[in-house]
Amino acid sequence: MEKSVSSHGGGTASGWVIAHAGLVPAGGRVLDLAAGGGRHSHYFADRGHPVVAVDRDITALAGRPGIECLRADLEDGSPWPLPGRAFAGVVVTNYLHRPLFPAIRAAVAAGGALIYETFARGNERFGKPSNPDFLLADNELLGLALPDLRVVAYEHLTIELPRPAIVQRIAAIRA
Ligand SMILES: C[S@@+](CC[C@H](N)C(=O)[O-])C[C@H]1O[C@@H](n2cnc3c(N)ncnc32)[C@H](O)[C@@H]1O
Repeated sequence: MEKSVSSHGGGTASGWVIAHAGLVPAGGRVLDLAAGGGRHSHYFADRGHPVVAVDRDITALAGRPGIECLRADLEDGSPWPLPGRAFAGVVVTNYLHRPLFPAIRAAVAAGGALIYETFARGNERFGKPSNPDFLLADNELLGLALPDLRVVAYEHLTIELPRPAIVQRIAAIRA
């Protein structure tokens, strides 16, 4: 059964993120994309990583030492808000906007890791998200990583916690 552990200011960190956080080089800067309440920003900051949290609503994270907050709409056609920046860790959870895939992949520094987990097709049977725009197709995260990252772990399955859902998730490194 899926475990959800490690509660932080922004909520309970994903078990997948926790399980693969060790792929991020110690002390390396982490990008938490579409950070929301910042559960993973807090998690990595607590592990000693400087964090850049990006979201269109970053109010929940404002003022937290060690977390640089960047307010940006990632879907309005504006340029990628972190041009030329690469990160030891790139974390994306419960968020999908496919046009960002190339920028997400490019944001993984040499030696760094991508940790991505979000809902997949079939999740509509459990509720939202049910719009196909927000649901990964089979193997889609593999397609995101494979051009130049090495896949360390990949799953596509039904989880029970924090609520029943169908998710796809990947951990990959730029070797
Ligand atoms: C379901 S929440 C996930 C938050 C966090 N990643 C987590 O797993 O706890 C989705 C997040 O995407 C952000 N978001 C949605 N559309 C966005 C956009 N166009 N630009 C920036 N952020 C957006 C929302 O503000 C929200 O914080």
